[in-house]
Amino acid sequence: MKAVIPAAGQGTRLFPHTHTKPKAMVRLAGQPILGHILESLAETDISEVIVIVGTSMQTQILEYALDAYGEVFEFTFVEQASAEGLGHSIYQAREAIDGEPILITLGDMLFENGHARFLEIHRQDDAHDGSIGVKRVVEPSHYGVVEVDGDDVVNLVEKPDDPPSDLAISGVYVVERTDALMDALGHLIENDLRGAGGEFQLTDALQRIIDDGVTLRTFEVDEWYDCGRPETLLEANRVLLSRDSQTSDETCDNSVIIPPVDFGRGVTVTGSIVGPNVSIDDGTHVETSIVTDSIIGEAASIEQINLTESIVGDFAEVCGQPTNLNLGDNSSINL
Ligand code: G1P
Repeated sequence: MKAVIPAAGQGTRLFPHTHTKPKAMVRLAGQPILGHILESLAETDISEVIVIVGTSMQTQILEYALDAYGEVFEFTFVEQASAEGLGHSIYQAREAIDGEPILITLGDMLFENGHARFLEIHRQDDAHDGSIGVKRVVEPSHYGVVEVDGDDVVNLVEKPDDPPSDLAISGVYVVERTDALMDALGHLIENDLRGAGGEFQLTDALQRIIDDGVTLRTFEVDEWYDCGRPETLLEANRVLLSRDSQTSDETCDNSVIIPPVDFGRGVTVTGSIVGPNVSIDDGTHVETSIVTDSIIGEAASIEQINLTESIVGDFAEVCGQPTNLNLGDNSSINL
């Protein structure tokens, strides 16, 4: 089995961070989103990983993956030259997939359960040709939605106005019959059968293979984190730090560090309160500040500021000002 990570999306909901890095390279809790995904895949028996990258900034993904996980996986990088949807992106990898079973895991989704657990659930049942991770949600029309009959998926629809169920596709799929999937994707693309958002949808291809007799089932994922939005990126940061936080006290001078936090190499903190739930990348300096629930990039400078639920990019400078007051008795002021 091979893993396929579609990571070509532009990541518009994470602007301005994705102006300078691909979404999969946005960091949280000590490593890029891609690093967390690869860390989870490293617990499986998968040794070949196909990463689908966009045309711009793809070098960042290649360099990171080879540098951090080049000893663990055999990588193939496939370019998606035009942003025409998830189905289109998977189709670009057809030669690299080469008819083998695949585990698809979206490049912006993290899961509380690891991928090893997903594969274990899939393999417990040899009556189906594939499994789709799902989660019950309040607003299914924002997602791909599946309808099941007993153990079988019978209907899939992408971002429906009138959802047939509350089971949202969560972004992890196991497909054994990749020959059928590639035929279905090829059919959609060759006949310009675009789905939701005018894009070629993986969901529509999965519906086609079911119609052709391929059997799919679902499994429920526990918590999931769509790292493609600032609020959920920060939430994922909190959860991942609560599992595995790291500090190095020698870098802190007259400061209070409230765990969980993750500091990269060469981070210096002076006269500040940092934490909880703060992830700071290499070489950043924090001085006379309070920082909670935030992700701070590499070689940034944070001075005289109270930051919460903030995302600060690499090499950014944030400098506040102390307030000077001459305030009378019984006053009330909100700054
Ligand atoms: C994609 C899939 C959708 C799934 C979602 C999960 O949509 O097409 O079926 O529910 O991921 O995040 P996107 O988020 O790319 O619009």
